[in-house]
Amino acid sequence: MTIIGTPKETASGENRVAMTPQSAGDLQKLGFECIVQSGAGKAARFSDAEYKAAGVTVVKTAADLWKKADVVAKVRPPSTTESKKMRKGQTVISFIYPGENKSLLDAAVDTGSTVIAMDMVPRISRAQKMDALSSTANIAGYRAVIEAGNSFGRFFTGQITAAGKVPPAKVLVIGAGVAGLAAIGAAQSLGAIVRAFDVRPEVAEQIESMGAEFLFLDFDESGSGDGGYAAPSSPEFREKQLELFREQAPDIDIVITTALIPGRDAPKLWLKDMVKAMKPGSVIVDLAAERGGNCDLTKKDEKIETSNGVTIIGYTDLASRMATQASTLYATNIRHMMTDLTPEKDGVIVHDMEDDVIRGATVTHQNEITFPPPPPKIQAIAKQAPKAPEPTKEELATQEAADMRRAGIREISMLTAGGLLLMLIGMFAPASFMQHMIVFALACFVGFQVIWNVSHALHTPLMAITNAISGIIIVGALLQIGSGSWLVMILAAISVFIATINIVGGFMVTRRMLAMFQKS
Ligand code: NAI
Repeated sequence: MTIIGTPKETASGENRVAMTPQSAGDLQKLGFECIVQSGAGKAARFSDAEYKAAGVTVVKTAADLWKKADVVAKVRPPSTTESKKMRKGQTVISFIYPGENKSLLDAAVDTGSTVIAMDMVPRISRAQKMDALSSTANIAGYRAVIEAGNSFGRFFTGQITAAGKVPPAKVLVIGAGVAGLAAIGAAQSLGAIVRAFDVRPEVAEQIESMGAEFLFLDFDESGSGDGGYAAPSSPEFREKQLELFREQAPDIDIVITTALIPGRDAPKLWLKDMVKAMKPGSVIVDLAAERGGNCDLTKKDEKIETSNGVTIIGYTDLASRMATQASTLYATNIRHMMTDLTPEKDGVIVHDMEDDVIRGATVTHQNEITFPPPPPKIQAIAKQAPKAPEPTKEELATQEAADMRRAGIREISMLTAGGLLLMLIGMFAPASFMQHMIVFALACFVGFQVIWNVSHALHTPLMAITNAISGIIIVGALLQIGSGSWLVMILAAISVFIATINIVGGFMVTRRMLAMFQKS
C-alpha cells in the first residue's frame, strides 16, 4: 500500500502541519496509508491521539517518516537536511518556490524524487480546490485586519454612545487579489469604511460588491497580466497612483498592502512621506514584507512604531499565526492534489504530465527539472476577454437603424403570418371561438413583447409580476373548476397546478436571491 506521511515542520516558528486527522481520513479513502511524525500537529492543536483515532500511524522520528513514506506532504520547502532524506521514487508535495530554490531542485533530481510545488498550482477554475497560495493568502488577509485591530487604539465601527460619538475607522487596502479581498471582507464586517485600489480594473466590481469603495484612477492603462495576475505598470501610471495614495494618507487610519506580481520584488507604493502624513495611532500591515514590502519603512517579520506614532507590521507568518485554520485548508488542498494524482482511488499514483494542474505544479520528475512549466492550456480565472474597440457615434447610429429595420420586418412578418392563420381558422371555426382566439393571440403577442424586452437584471421583479399573473390564472381556473364538463374541470385543475408551481418557485427563487444580500 502506498504510504503518505507528514513530518513535523523544522522551520522555526512554523506552526502549520500538512495533514490533519480529517484529511487523513479522506486520504485513506483514496487508498493510502497515512503516517505522521509524533508531535507534527501539536502547534496546530492536533494531538497524536487524534491522528491515531483517525487511523494514522504515528512514527517517532523524521528519519523514520522519510524512510517509510512514498509520498511526503509538508508545508515549508524541504530544508537541506530534509532534502538529503529524499529518495528515488518518492514524491514530495510542499510549498517549494522553485524560482528561488534551485539547489533544492538539483538535490531532488540527484535523488530521483518527484517534487510537486503547491505554490505552482495554476490559477484555473478546476484547480481552485488545490490552490494553496489562495487559501494561505485568504487567511493572511483576514489576519492582517485582526493584527491591525490589535495595534489600533479605536473601534473599527462607528458608534454613538452616551460617552460620545466615535467615527468609524477608515481602511485602505492596496492590491485586491485574494489576500486583499479577504482583508476587505474582514474590515467591512467589523464596520470600518473600506477603500481599495488595484491596478487590475476588473476587480472594481468585486470590491464594490463587497461594499467597499474602489479608488478609481483616471488613467488609460490596464494593469491586467497573464494568469489572473497583474502586469508591471508604467512609470506614469505609478506616479498617478502615488498621487492618489498621497491624497488618502492623512485621512486613512489603517493601510493593508498586498500588491505583488509573482516573481518580482514588491512595488514600493506607500512611501516615507505618506507614512509621515498619517495620523498618530494609524497602522500599516504590509503583507508583501517577504518580498521587500510595499511600504518604504517595513521591516520584515517585525512590528515597529515610527516617530510620528504609526505602527508598521511586516509579519510574514500571518497564516502560521492561525495554524489550525491554515493547516485545515492546506491539508484539504493537498488531499485534492492527491485525488488528482490517484484517478482510480486505489492508492496508485498516476503522474499524468498531460494534466495542466499536475504538469504546472511538478518541478522535478524522472530525474529532470520540469520547471518552469509551459503555460496552461486553459484560460486563467480572472483573465477577461479583450474588449472590442468602442464603436463611433456614426457606427452606433447605423447599427441602431439596422436593428430597428430588422425588428420591424420581424414584427410585420409575425403579424402577417398570425393574421393569415386567424383568417384560415375563421373560415371554419364558429364566431364565439374566434372572439376568444383573437383575445388569446393578442395576449400572447403583448405578453411576449413585454417579457422579452425586460433586461436580465430585472428578472426578479419580473417574477413578482408573473406571480400576480399566475394568481389571476388561479382565480380564473377556480371559477371554471365547478363547471359540469369534466374536460373543463381537468383543464382548470391543470391550470391551478401549473400556476401554483410558478408562484411557489417564484417565491423560492426570490427568497434565495434576497438571502444573498443578507449578512449571516
Ligand atoms: P494576488 O496576486 O492574488 O494579489 C496581488 C494583487 O496586487 C493583485 O490583485 C494585483 O493586481 C495587485 N497589484 C500588483 N501590483 C500592484 C500595484 N502596483 N498597485 C496596486 N495593486 C497591485 O496575491 P495574493 O495571493 O493576494 O497575495 C498578496 C500578498 O500577500 C503577496 O505579497 C503574498 O506574498 C502575501 N502573503 C503574505 C503572507 C504573510 O504572512 N505576510 C501570507 C500569504 C500571502
